[in-house]
Amino acid sequence: MLKNIHIFTALISFTLFFIRGLWVMKGSVMMQQKWVKIVPHLNDTVLLGTAIALTISIGQYPFSDGWLTAKLLALVAYICLGIEALRLARTDIGRAAAWLAALVVFLFIVSVAVTRMPLGFFYPLML
Ligand code: HEM
Repeated sequence: MLKNIHIFTALISFTLFFIRGLWVMKGSVMMQQKWVKIVPHLNDTVLLGTAIALTISIGQYPFSDGWLTAKLLALVAYICLGIEALRLARTDIGRAAAWLAALVVFLFIVSVAVTRMPLGFFYPLML
């Protein structure tokens, strides 16, 4: 149940971030909508809450289990790139670059989750 909510909110997070990036780059008025300012944060709070609950339920933790350390650090990178893409970047190219990088980092987090290996989809490069 917890894991399903975690995966579901991860999917919503990705979708909302994807769409908001397109809206910002188009200069869409959608970014002014109240729900657009609230719902992503509520969703991400649930995502993080279930992440913490899951670590406790399986007894594995960041800075003790490599794959969870990688997930947490990549999450911080995803948040920073997201803030850059949606708020701070001043040029179209800057916004697009930060948005694309954030999407790649998100997919990396999913690959770490599925493989339970810190390198995620970079693992084959190490072989
Ligand atoms: C954007 C951020 C995140 C995404 C997209 C994400 C995605 C996922 C996915 C897809 C799974 C299911 C993997 C599978 O079973 O095949 C999962 C499981 C899990 N996630 Fe996350 N996650 C995120 C953040 C975090 C964070 C920050 C933590 C804690 C540091 C965390 C802790 C866990 C744990 C412990 C499981 C395993 C549950 C189990 O196997 O019973 N997640 N995550």
